[in-house]
Amino acid sequence: MNAPHNPNTYRSGPDENGRFGMFGGRFVAETLMPLILELEQAYEAAKIDPVYHAETAYGLRHYVGRPSPLYYAERLTEHFRDKAAASGLSGGAKIYLKREELNHTGSHKVNNVLGQILLARRMGKKRIIAETGAGQHGVATATLCARYGLECIVYMGAVDVARQAPNVFRMQMLGATVIPVESGTKTLKDAMNEALRDWVTNVATTFYCIGTVAGPHPYPAMVRDFQSIIGRETREQMQELEGRLPDSLIACIGGGSNAMGLFHPFLDDPSVEIYGVEAAGHGIPSGLHAASLTGGAPGVLHGNRTYLLMDADGQIKDAHSISAGLDYPGIGPEHSWLHDVGRAKYISATDEEALEAFQLISKLEGIIPALESAHALARVAELAPKKPQDHLMVVNLSGRGDKDIPQVAEILAAR
Ligand SMILES: Cc1ncc(COP(=O)(O)O)c(C=O)c1O
Repeated sequence: MNAPHNPNTYRSGPDENGRFGMFGGRFVAETLMPLILELEQAYEAAKIDPVYHAETAYGLRHYVGRPSPLYYAERLTEHFRDKAAASGLSGGAKIYLKREELNHTGSHKVNNVLGQILLARRMGKKRIIAETGAGQHGVATATLCARYGLECIVYMGAVDVARQAPNVFRMQMLGATVIPVESGTKTLKDAMNEALRDWVTNVATTFYCIGTVAGPHPYPAMVRDFQSIIGRETREQMQELEGRLPDSLIACIGGGSNAMGLFHPFLDDPSVEIYGVEAAGHGIPSGLHAASLTGGAPGVLHGNRTYLLMDADGQIKDAHSISAGLDYPGIGPEHSWLHDVGRAKYISATDEEALEAFQLISKLEGIIPALESAHALARVAELAPKKPQDHLMVVNLSGRGDKDIPQVAEILAAR
C-alpha cells in the first residue's frame, strides 16, 4: 500500500518507481527493461544540462512558434452570458483560449516531440517510431524527423488512416513511412501495441517517441514535463492580462497530455478548479465511449497501471469516439491518481456535443477547433453560465480542425 498522499504537494510525483499512488509503474517485457532504464538515465541527465535546455527553448521559440497566445474569447463569453441571462442567471465566466492550435504542425503534440527528438539525438538513435490516433502526433514526429534527418516510422490504426486522411498524406510528404495497423479495433490502442512490438524487436537502434502521458515510466512524467510549457505560459500570461491566477482550467483527454501540460503547474494552487473532459461517444450508458475514468476500472495496459475500459474478465474493451485522438481505452496514470485523490474532476462530452461545439466556436470566434478540443469546449457550454462573470476560465485549444473537415463534412451532409 502506498503512503498517504500529502495534499500540499500534488506536483511532486511520480516516486522513484514511476508511480503516482497506485498508478503508473513499468510493466514491460524483460527485453525492454535495459532500454527503459537507458532512456530514464538520459532524460535525468538532459534535465540538468543547460545545453539541452537552451536547444529545447530555441526550438520551442523559433521552430514551434511559442509562446502560444492566451486569447480572450469575447463573443463566446457573451454567448454564454446571454444563455445564463435567458435562464434567469447573472453568471457567465470570462473565457480564455490557450491557442495550442497555432503551433507549427497544428497542435500541442509538437511540444513533446521536440523534447523527445532532441533526447533521441543525444542518445545517438537514428530510427524513430511513433504511434498516432488523430495523426497529429505522427505529423509532429515526421516533421521533427525531417528537420533533424532521422528515419521515421508511424503506426496508425487502419480506421484512423481512413478518417484522418489529410494527416496521412502530410506524414508521407514529410518523408515518414505510415504503417496501417489492421489488428483489434484498428485504432490508437492497436497502433501502440504494434509500436511496442517494433521497439522490442529493434531495441538497439530505435527510439520510441510516445505521443501522450501514458506508457511505462519515465514516459508519463517526461511527456508531462515537455507539455507543462502550456501551463507555465498560461500562468504568466494570465498574470499579465488579469493580474492573478485563473479560476478554472478545462482540457480534453485522450491519453491526457494536453490536459496534464495545462494542469500540472497549477496542481498546488487550491483555488484553481481543474476539469478533464473525456470522450463520452454515444453516451456512457451505451457502452460506446472512450471515458476510462468515468466508465472504467484500474488495470494494466501499455506498460502502466491506470484506469481502463475492461470487461468482467479484465479484457480491454473497444473504445469509441468521433475523435480519433480521444479513441483510447486508457488514460495517463497521473490523471488516474488525480481523479482518485480528488484534485481534478473528470467529466465527459458526447460525439454530438463535440460536433455542436465544433460548429459554435468556428462561427463565433473564427477558429475551427480539432474535434478533440471541441470536447473540452462542449463542457464549457455547461460550466461557464453557472460561474460568476469575474470567473476566469481557461480552455486548452489543443489543436486546429483542418484535419477533421472531411469527416465533419461527411457527417453533416448525411443529416
Ligand atoms: C488536437 C488533439 N488534442 C488532443 C488529443 C488527445 O491527446 P492528449 O490527451 O494526449 O492530449 C489529440 C490526440 O491526437 C489531438 O490531436
